[in-house]
Amino acid sequence: MCGIIGYNGNLQAPGLLIEGLERLEYRGYDSAGIAVKDTKTSSFHVIKTVGKVAELKNRLPELDGISSTCGIGHTRWATHGGVCEVNAHPHTFGRVVLLHNGIIENHRELVEKFGLKGKLKTQTDTEIAAAVFDAYYQGNPKEAIRKAVKEFIGTYAFCIMFVEEDEAEASTDEIYAIRSVSPLVATLCDDGAFISSDITALIKYTNKYFVVPENHIVTLGKNTMTIEDMRGHKFTPEYLTVNWDISAAQKGGYKHYMMKEIMEQPDVIAATIHGRISDGLPSLANDNVPDDIFKGLHSIQIVACGTAMHAGMVFKAMIEPILRVPVTVNIASEYRYQDPIVDEHTLVIAISQSGETIDTLEALRLSKRYGATTLAVVNVQGSSIARESDYVVYTYAGPEIAVASTKAYTVQIATLYLIGCRIALANKKMTQKAAKQFIRNLEQVSAHIKSILDNQEPIKKATKYLKKATDAFFIGRGNDYALSLEGSLKLKEISYIHAEAYAAGELKHGTIALITEGVPVIAVATQRTVFSKTISNIREVNARGAYVILIMEEQTVVDKDLCKIKLTIPETEDVFSVFPTSAILQLIAYYSADARGLDVDMPRNLAKSVTVE
Ligand code: G6P
Repeated sequence: MCGIIGYNGNLQAPGLLIEGLERLEYRGYDSAGIAVKDTKTSSFHVIKTVGKVAELKNRLPELDGISSTCGIGHTRWATHGGVCEVNAHPHTFGRVVLLHNGIIENHRELVEKFGLKGKLKTQTDTEIAAAVFDAYYQGNPKEAIRKAVKEFIGTYAFCIMFVEEDEAEASTDEIYAIRSVSPLVATLCDDGAFISSDITALIKYTNKYFVVPENHIVTLGKNTMTIEDMRGHKFTPEYLTVNWDISAAQKGGYKHYMMKEIMEQPDVIAATIHGRISDGLPSLANDNVPDDIFKGLHSIQIVACGTAMHAGMVFKAMIEPILRVPVTVNIASEYRYQDPIVDEHTLVIAISQSGETIDTLEALRLSKRYGATTLAVVNVQGSSIARESDYVVYTYAGPEIAVASTKAYTVQIATLYLIGCRIALANKKMTQKAAKQFIRNLEQVSAHIKSILDNQEPIKKATKYLKKATDAFFIGRGNDYALSLEGSLKLKEISYIHAEAYAAGELKHGTIALITEGVPVIAVATQRTVFSKTISNIREVNARGAYVILIMEEQTVVDKDLCKIKLTIPETEDVFSVFPTSAILQLIAYYSADARGLDVDMPRNLAKSVTVE
């Protein structure tokens, strides 16, 4: 969602900002723009466009002849006001040029209070915020910011430039930034001062960055940077280092990021679990997660969104039968408004790739207020969810650029399995011998995924039929149902085929009415404990003419006429079949979308990092 970049240094800003926006494209957006300050005249030049950053780049010649080493850039994911050039950021109002990620909820009241009726050019809450900054600006930018942000209810990350009030008090080439909830990271390196929504935009220049603290004013001067709180006290940031470089954020010869990320799964799972296995047993010692927090739990509650929530469902199926303690998997946006039953005997696990999903963050905050112990499983170092939870276990998936999550999902499951095994040991619900066997199985999953990735042709062929479909159904029982939900989400988000997932036994209670001749049904039947039951459900759809694509273990034998296409995974215990099966489901979605000629990495309307409710 909305990408932000700001730069002040020695390099020419326009091209640098556009390149930064290209790296932020994956967050999801529908329009883009930059504002640069002319070094000679101190005037601002703004270019904006609806659509892709590439179109903005085509308009760069409009800035030919302008020298600028200071500017801000933005990709907008529309919330207030439609998708059009005038609503794209940056916005200007009076002596203020600004861009914003987040939502100003009290925008209507601000229009009244600041007498803005008839004075606004756009339908955005951001322009109203610009007007408030302008109203308070009397030559002292920080003073204006301090006063203006007191007026805002909502979430925001702002980058603001001010037109000089008079030459004596000139704010010259400074960019100011402030955030509340919405993410911002910054760095001061040899090439200058940078600020961005995430490190991906800065990685070309440095692998060191800091997370901008909330309610602090960051001033990006020419090769300088200061941070101060609302009372003007200086703040020294703690720099983080990412262990990946620019090549990790590039396609590396693949047609799409999504395929690259699917292919990376065996390695990133190995990288994530390897250092957390000691003497054949799971260890969270290096993560500073003590066993004590796992003892005597009355419940475990998962809070997450989208694919991360589906990973939580798989974890529940793994841990609940062993621990015999209720595990609930909660959609974070629902949880936060449900008055959940949480106390100090509850372990709340927040799962998030980005670590910035606002609903997951707020659900985490709520559970902390209720006294729960919180543990985050997060991919992005230093992200809000990682910082705010009591404990964090990082996944080492590297940057995930494609909007559709793939490697982050399987690596989350592997990490949760490791945590689950540790919880079981801490509560003496698993013997050391059983735990060692569990970990040996976990170490096998990279090879199982690889066996699927090395033989993609049958999956590609299977999608020849799907590519023409308007609807598809995914069915399965137990973990296969959790996987069906994820498989269906993947298919609809990138191929736009209407897809639904059903617990196989539930289909007959209504939805089977939609199964007619030729309707594709992806039947996931990898769970041995319920295999015969799932097969009966497959017969029911088969009898109604469904085009069945069956996913099952390779050694299993079924009637030839049960399905049109059979895709197999290596023989494995029920809880571990999720890994190779996920790879098949990801590839089904990928090849269906690609065959339809769609933008696999950046599907319409979607955002990678969802920072608004
Ligand atoms: C968005 C993404 C999904 C992701 C979800 C949760 O909707 O498009 O791929 O699963 O957010 O994101 P998180 O970063 O919290 O895992």
